[in-house]
Amino acid sequence: MYLGVDYYPEHWNKDMMDSDIDRMLIMGVNTVRIGEFAWHIMEPKEGYFQFDFFDEVIAKLKTKKIKVIFGTPTATPPAWLVKKHPEVLLKDENLNRVSFGGRREYCFNSDIYRRYTKKIVTELVAHYKDEDNIVAWQVDNELGHESSDLCYCEECHKSFRSFLQNKYKSIEEVNKAWGTVFWNHTYNEFDEIPLPVKTITVHNPALQLDFQRFRSKSLKGYSDFQVGLIKEIVGDNQLVTTNLPGGFFEKSFDFEALQEKCDIAAYDNYPVWGGLKEPVPPHAIAFSHDFIRGLKDKNYWILEELMGAQGHTIIGYLPRPNQAKMWAYQAVAHGCEGLLFFRWRGATFGAEEFCYGILDQDNIEGRKYYEVQSFFEDIKKYDEILKSEIKAEVALVYDYDNAWAWRIQPQSTTFNYLNEAQRLYKPFYSLNTTIDVISEKHNFDKYKVLLLPVMMVTDEEIKIRLEEFVKRGGTIILSFRASIKDRNNNLYLGQTVPCGLSELAGIEIHEVESLQEDQLVPVQGRGNFEGKSTYGTVWRDIIDCKTAEALYVYSDKFYKNKACITVNNYGKGKVYYIGSGVGDDVLYDISKEIIGEKKIDFIETAEGIEIYTRTIKDTKCTFLINHTEEDQIALGNKLEPYQVKILS
Ligand code: GAL
Ligand code: ZN
Repeated sequence: MYLGVDYYPEHWNKDMMDSDIDRMLIMGVNTVRIGEFAWHIMEPKEGYFQFDFFDEVIAKLKTKKIKVIFGTPTATPPAWLVKKHPEVLLKDENLNRVSFGGRREYCFNSDIYRRYTKKIVTELVAHYKDEDNIVAWQVDNELGHESSDLCYCEECHKSFRSFLQNKYKSIEEVNKAWGTVFWNHTYNEFDEIPLPVKTITVHNPALQLDFQRFRSKSLKGYSDFQVGLIKEIVGDNQLVTTNLPGGFFEKSFDFEALQEKCDIAAYDNYPVWGGLKEPVPPHAIAFSHDFIRGLKDKNYWILEELMGAQGHTIIGYLPRPNQAKMWAYQAVAHGCEGLLFFRWRGATFGAEEFCYGILDQDNIEGRKYYEVQSFFEDIKKYDEILKSEIKAEVALVYDYDNAWAWRIQPQSTTFNYLNEAQRLYKPFYSLNTTIDVISEKHNFDKYKVLLLPVMMVTDEEIKIRLEEFVKRGGTIILSFRASIKDRNNNLYLGQTVPCGLSELAGIEIHEVESLQEDQLVPVQGRGNFEGKSTYGTVWRDIIDCKTAEALYVYSDKFYKNKACITVNNYGKGKVYYIGSGVGDDVLYDISKEIIGEKKIDFIETAEGIEIYTRTIKDTKCTFLINHTEEDQIALGNKLEPYQVKILS
């Protein structure tokens, strides 16, 4: 297992390097990542390449048997490049060019930037292609993060139009697909089509969805370009990856597509960042891991795992003693099989002085150093079992078209796609079942239960696949706004909502209501759930049951007895429909019922206790994770605050 740190030897006097490496070794490091922002050191002037600094770094690491993951430095173009070609800088939504001075300021569609990328990447990778101490290349750094996924420059405008030309072939098809007759948007030529930049009111939602797809393709194009360059030089000698940022559904690119050509998925895990009073909750961190594992349906790496508090100008919550270490355990439990902590030592200059590392400015080994050391020492014992494949019977299914369509039209001020995905995920997580988070492109055959949050955009294919899945005995959970729109992001005409799924779900929806902040609608249980109650938030579908049974109904004046949550038997399977943003406890009960029926492994635990089991042949290894600041008992074992125990 690759275990180590992100190291920036160029930030320090060279004479600190030996002591750094010695202390890393004592801490248990076997791998470091280097290089990803150091373009100027490798090409200080155009066309003048020098790698002696990193030659020395790698040689020193090699004598200590520490492996290297090398980042291509394209996230930070050098000043000389931008001075010569300011047109590589991206343009923001107000059509202003961003300035040099941050990072990732470049446009993914810039031919000039690709030319320079090709030169530096080719020179760098060719220089180290036979270096067996380099185990992998990391492409760029967090492609698309910090709003770098969006650009509205002339180059992008041109590319967007040819993307549309390719997709639709004729302008008449565009007009038809987008409904451009509305507000007089009919186009005669492709070069009349605007970018969705600032306008009066809003752009056409169909155009906007195509723009998101175009952005995704632009990022993938750039990433694939680099992966291709590297692979052509190194063949199978060294692996290729790219470190994916957080914020999955908030981004204008599809994570699965972006890293498709990489050998292994990699992620940067920051459960808390600048300005946050507390970390994101345990189920949200778990969701991220399951999402990353789902990209390739394989275990993955974490190239940056938070250790200290982080922030550029405002600093976030300080992870409590053993808390960041616990997050590292949680990551490996969920399938991370290579993990580097960010960063060896915090910088003492530059924009990230307050992104604390394992060591701080005093350069003394302290609490964080010893936590990492004990984690590395312990986790090495489970090398074999942590390589095992994770098998889940429950899958949460997402779709980027949907996530983007919702971002374009959230419909309620309180709507958030990730929250709605996690609303369905959380009860299964709380019951300690193993869950995959996958895009709808994946095969569903191996699952017993599918969670399908807010599936607003659908097509015939997914409807047929779901029907087949249920007919054969599968259970699906749909939530509100299911199947109102087609792939063009237009509403279906002449069909009852949920369009094409109405029979499957056994319901009809004729009235809906958007709910804003603090707007709660009362909901009451029926049948098995008699006596229970909750509130609907965010949105409500006001449901008429056809063949379905109402499990919960609304109880406010005009909608009394209209259904909020329903279940329908269909073929050998079942379809649940959750018509509103209802409370966790209600979904917990329903999920427990499903798990029981489907004979899926689960363990009930106190809140904040996570149990995750990995299996290889007959060997089991069970992680008991205490996410709370209190002592807890899990499966009869005492856990101190933020403690993890592995039973094997
Ligand atoms: C990551 C990024 C690193 C560093 C870190 C600070 O998103 O990849 O380069 O900026 O955040 O927390
Ligand atoms: Zn651009």
